[in-house]
Amino acid sequence: MAPTRVAAQTVGMAKDPLIDDDELDDLERELIGRARGRVLEIGAGRGENFGALPPEIRWHGLEPDPVRRAELARRAREWGHAEAPMDAVAEGIPLADASVDTVIGTYVLCTVPDVPTALSELRRVLVPGGRMLLVEHVRAPRGWALPLLQRIATPFTVRWCGGCHQDRDPLSALRAAGFADVEVRRARVRDRPLPPTPTLLYEGRTPS
Ligand SMILES: C[S@@+](CC[C@H](N)C(=O)[O-])C[C@H]1O[C@@H](n2cnc3c(N)ncnc32)[C@H](O)[C@@H]1O
Repeated sequence: MAPTRVAAQTVGMAKDPLIDDDELDDLERELIGRARGRVLEIGAGRGENFGALPPEIRWHGLEPDPVRRAELARRAREWGHAEAPMDAVAEGIPLADASVDTVIGTYVLCTVPDVPTALSELRRVLVPGGRMLLVEHVRAPRGWALPLLQRIATPFTVRWCGGCHQDRDPLSALRAAGFADVEVRRARVRDRPLPPTPTLLYEGRTPS
C-alpha cells in the first residue's frame, strides 16, 4: 500500500515539534483510539492504554512480566475485557494467522529483544490490510550529539531500565518488515534536565 499521509516533519523540516507530556498524552490517546475490531496489545504493561481504546473493540493483550500481567488482568476485567492477558512475548504470539485487525503498542519495541522476529509475528497475526499503531521513543533522526548520547546510554538503560534501548530505529524496522506507512509523526518530548526525547507516533498497514 502506498503511503497516504506522512507528516511534514519527516520529509524535510529541520526540527520536530517540541511538546510536553500532556500534549504527548493527547497524541497517544488519539492514535490508540484508532484501534478497530480484534485488537492485540503487545507489552501491555499495567493497562495504561485501556482508557484510550474504543469500547466496542475486542481486546487481546500479552505481557511477559508476571507482576505487571497480574495488575493488567485485574484492570482488563474492570474495563470489561473478556480475555485474560497472555503470558507471551511479541516474538512468539499464541494467536492464529490473520486473527487480529489492529495491533497496538506503546514503548515496547525499545524493550523487545528481537525486533525483526516480533514484527514478522505481528504481520502473521494481522489480517491483510491490518492496522499497526505504535508509540515509541526512538534514536534521534538527525544530528550527531544526541544519537551518540543515546548509544552511550543504552547499555546502562538495558541493564537497569528493564532492557530498554535508547538508540533504536523502529520506523526502518517496520518498513523492512513490510509495513506500509499510513501516518508517521515525530515529536521531541520535554524531559528536563535531559535533552528532549525523540518520539515516533506511527500508523501502518500490512499489505492488502
Ligand atoms: C516500557 S514498558 C511499556 C508498558 C506499556 N505498554 C506502557 O505504555 O505503559 C515495556 C513493556 O514491554 C514488555 N516486554 C518486554 N519484553 C517484551 C517482549 N519480548 N514482548 C512483548 N512485551 C515485552 C515489558 O514487560 C513491559 O511491560
